[in-house]
Amino acid sequence: MSTPTKLAVIYYSATGTIAEIAKEIARTAEQAGAEVRLRRAAELAPQEAIDSNPAWAANAAATAGTPLATPDDMVWADAVIFGTPTRYGNVASQLKQFIDTLGGLWAEGKLADKVYSGFTSSATSHGGQESTLLALYNTVHHFGGILVAPGYTDPAKFGDGNPYGTSHVDAQGNNPVDDTTRTAARIQAERVVKVATALNSGGVTN
Ligand SMILES: Cc1cc2nc3c(=O)[nH]c(=O)nc-3n(C[C@H](O)[C@H](O)[C@H](O)COP(=O)(O)O)c2cc1C
Repeated sequence: MSTPTKLAVIYYSATGTIAEIAKEIARTAEQAGAEVRLRRAAELAPQEAIDSNPAWAANAAATAGTPLATPDDMVWADAVIFGTPTRYGNVASQLKQFIDTLGGLWAEGKLADKVYSGFTSSATSHGGQESTLLALYNTVHHFGGILVAPGYTDPAKFGDGNPYGTSHVDAQGNNPVDDTTRTAARIQAERVVKVATALNSGGVTN
């Protein structure tokens, strides 16, 4: 029997949107036969900021049992899917901080030859989802990673319309993760597992 493809889903989420999409991706990848590590980036915000926002406090409590991402998760994985809310059209500092701890592994070439992909969410429909994913993907090029975006590889991708990665508009918490976003998440997870498995069996991923 062949070894299952190893997927790390590494995300930051303040108010739970990205956490919800991360679970959908993890679940789908497991159903597709991958071994999955669902990991969250450590919080950097002060406790009073978290406590001042009920949705943020609730998500912090709900995800307290999800292990924190570590550099070992990156070494272990054949494929990594990063998730981040948009922050002024950019990657959230909490996820960026995790990525910035990986310099040693980058220098050893241990982040190269893996499959990478990303997902995001924003408050508004033109609030910077594409710029966030493209900013995230800058890092993938530095890693020597193999970027696997969903594109329009499935007809259902015309439903969410974002070829760069799964994305959701949360409308300030008024629009929970819906079927359109879940479908996009499933397409992305299945595609990443499929490509990583093919590369793995060809001896490309490490
Ligand atoms: C500091 C900060 C900056 C944000 N910047 C943007 C932005 O540029 N565009 C946007 O549409 N939403 C922005 N948002 C909203 C979040 O990206 C959005 O609510 C996201 O879905 C939250 O994901 P989460 O529930 O996983 O934390 C910002 C939120 C915060 C706290």
